[in-house]
Amino acid sequence: MKNIILIGFMGVGKGSVAREVVKHSDYVAIDTDDLIESMENKTIKKVFAQDGEEHFRALEKKMSKWLENSVKNTLISTGGGFYKQKNLKEIGTVVLLNSPFKKILQRINNHPNAVKKLKKRPLLSDLNKAKELYNERLPEYLDLADIVVDVTDKSALDCAKEILKKVKKYA
Ligand code: S3P
Repeated sequence: MKNIILIGFMGVGKGSVAREVVKHSDYVAIDTDDLIESMENKTIKKVFAQDGEEHFRALEKKMSKWLENSVKNTLISTGGGFYKQKNLKEIGTVVLLNSPFKKILQRINNHPNAVKKLKKRPLLSDLNKAKELYNERLPEYLDLADIVVDVTDKSALDCAKEILKKVKKYA
């Protein structure tokens, strides 16, 4: 199996979809933010606050090289800015989870842990800036994606099934 690399904006549901893919396939999933947190032994929020965004992006770069060289047969969920890494296509089939900004915010706000979800993401602290970031990134996300899955009003399970069906073409 070729790696699947899940990209998309913060809060779009990459983690939930990844968990459904794992349940319904032989893929094992990893998450770049989780790996960075364990490597640094601190939360992403603390990495941003104590070491700065530049340091975080350097860690993502290191992670991208390791993924390309060392990871096989895996579903890789990424932080919303990871797509800027130059070797994305070398890592695996790029799958974009997509939804309008308004719907992403709705999804976060409807979650029982909404406050926590917003707090752990430094780039969501200012919603006007986050919207600008979304508008800036969307064309780049679309450009990079081998497969685009519109997740709006769909269950994570349905999105996972759609991914598993569409990636067959890239295996
Ligand atoms: C970021 C998204 C976050 C995390 C960091 C930066 C971004 O991941 O990597 O806060 O630049 O969009 P999620 O997309 O999982 O929230």
